[in-house]
This record gives sequence, structure tokens and C-alpha cells, in this order.
Amino acid sequence: MENFTLSNGVSIPAVGYGTYLADCDSAAVVENALRAGYRHFDTASFYGNEAELGRALQQCGAARGMLFLTSKLWKTELGYRQALDAFERSLEKLGTDYLDLYLIHWPRPDDLSAEWAELDRGTWRALEELYHAGRVRAIGVSNFLPHHLRSLMETAEVAPMVNQIEFHPGYPQTWNVEFCKAHGILPEAWSPLGRTRVLDDPFLRELAAGYGKSVAQLCLRFALQRGVLPLPKSSAPERMAANLDIFDFTISDADMDRILTLPQFGWSGLHPDFPKQQP
Ligand code: A2P
Repeated sequence: MENFTLSNGVSIPAVGYGTYLADCDSAAVVENALRAGYRHFDTASFYGNEAELGRALQQCGAARGMLFLTSKLWKTELGYRQALDAFERSLEKLGTDYLDLYLIHWPRPDDLSAEWAELDRGTWRALEELYHAGRVRAIGVSNFLPHHLRSLMETAEVAPMVNQIEFHPGYPQTWNVEFCKAHGILPEAWSPLGRTRVLDDPFLRELAAGYGKSVAQLCLRFALQRGVLPLPKSSAPERMAANLDIFDFTISDADMDRILTLPQFGWSGLHPDFPKQQP
């Protein structure tokens, strides 16, 4: 497995196993993922599966030191004190004494009148403390747009190392990805397969066939070549393995540009902060 290197030098496996709505209560699924070669597991308090994932990893006898574990605090856990408490709950559920990466899941609560900038800054102070205390190896955010990041970085002592966002050929968030890269923040992709919606696209099918790969593999490779770390999820052993078999081909620059011109759709756009059209 190849790696990306975060701005603080921490190495992160270049493809992670996404667990949102995946069957990670089943030790068999986790065992298949480990056997396929996954070491990087992405969960969140909101997913409600931290305890199951932690248990399954322990049942499989996976040594903690070979794993890269990410979790996230939810919109209802924003704020300095709340974030510290949320972190302890996640550790307890996962059955570990440190995280590799801890993220703010969304920049603001559902209450749109809430002062999100202050909440995020308080939350970030808590994450910085956890980071300085060695309880987490890297800290970051998720679903942040450049204006959220700019606001956070005005007072941050430690810059975010990751921004996990929706990213696939139907929603490549080019302006956001470029902003992250310019600031040394690694973008990660949730739903890198567009929740399967892009898999039947005739253009992508033809393109993938030309590389002797599936559309899913093309999408994951597209993420890597954009400098974005993909977090695919699958409960089928053969697809788990196929989703890691993406290091033996290169999409040409011309094809990368073509993929970026596909019609846009995405779920983040339902969030009030997100532009309906990419700027
Ligand atoms: P399955 O668990 O049956 O493999 P996303 O990560 O974009 O949210 O997409 C997840 C969905 O993509 C799941 O429904 C998963 O189903 C499916 N999936 C994952 N890998 C592949 C693949 N290589 N080919 C086709 N479908 C896939």
C-alpha cells in the first residue's frame, strides 16, 4: 500500500476503508478488509459503529500499531468541552488509547443561527490540546469549504492536516481541493464512487475499459491523481480487493481533464453552505 504524508510528517495509507453504513459490526467484513490489505479505517461518532469496529479489529487480532484509525466528532459535539468529551467516548468505544486522526465532521450545527466560527475555533483548541498531549497523531476537518478553513486558520496554532469532503467524478470540488493543497491540507474523498451513481456512466465505462479497469477503479485512481485520498466502502471481498488494485495504471492528463467535465451532482449541495454549482 502506498502512502500520503501529512503536513506533520505522519504517513497515512493511500486508500482507506470507509465504514459509513458498512457492515462493520461483522468481524468477517473487517477480517476480509484486513486480508485484502486495508490498514486505514475511517469511522465517526455519527456512524454509530465505533464499538463494533473496535471489537471486530480486536477479534481479528489486528495489532494497533499497524492500523490507522480515524474518527470524527458530530455537529452536536462542537465546542471546546464537548469535543474533549466526544474524543474520550470515541476512544472508549473503539477500545484504544489514541487515534491516528480526529476530525470535526461538519463545520456547523444544524441550527443555522449558531455562531459557527466561534464554535469551530473552540473545538479546534480542544483538538490542538489532544494533539499536543500525544493522544492523536493528526487532526483535521471534514466538509469544510475554504471560508470555514480560512476562519479556523485565523486563530489556529496547528493547521488542519486533512479535509475530508465529498469527492467523485460527479462532484470533484475543484476549488476546494485546490485551496486545501495550497495550504498543505490533504483532501480525503468520502463516497469516491458517487454512491455507485457514476458507475453506469457510459463515458466512464468506455474510458475505464480502455485502461482495462472497472469504473470503480477509474474513480479511485482519479482521486489519487488529483492528490485526494479515497475512502471507498464495500462489504464484498472481491470488490474490497479490486478497490486496492489501482496502483498499476495511470490516467492520462487529457482523460483527467475529460472526467472533470462530467455533469455535476452531489449530496453536499443539500447543505446550506454549499454552492449548488461549483464556482
Ligand atoms: P458493495 O458493498 O456491495 O460492494 P461510495 O463509497 O461512493 O459511497 O459507494 C459505496 C457503494 O459502492 C456500496 O454500495 C458498494 O457496494 C459499492 N461498491 C464498492 N466498491 C465497488 C466496486 N468496485 N464496484 C461496484 N460497486 C462497488
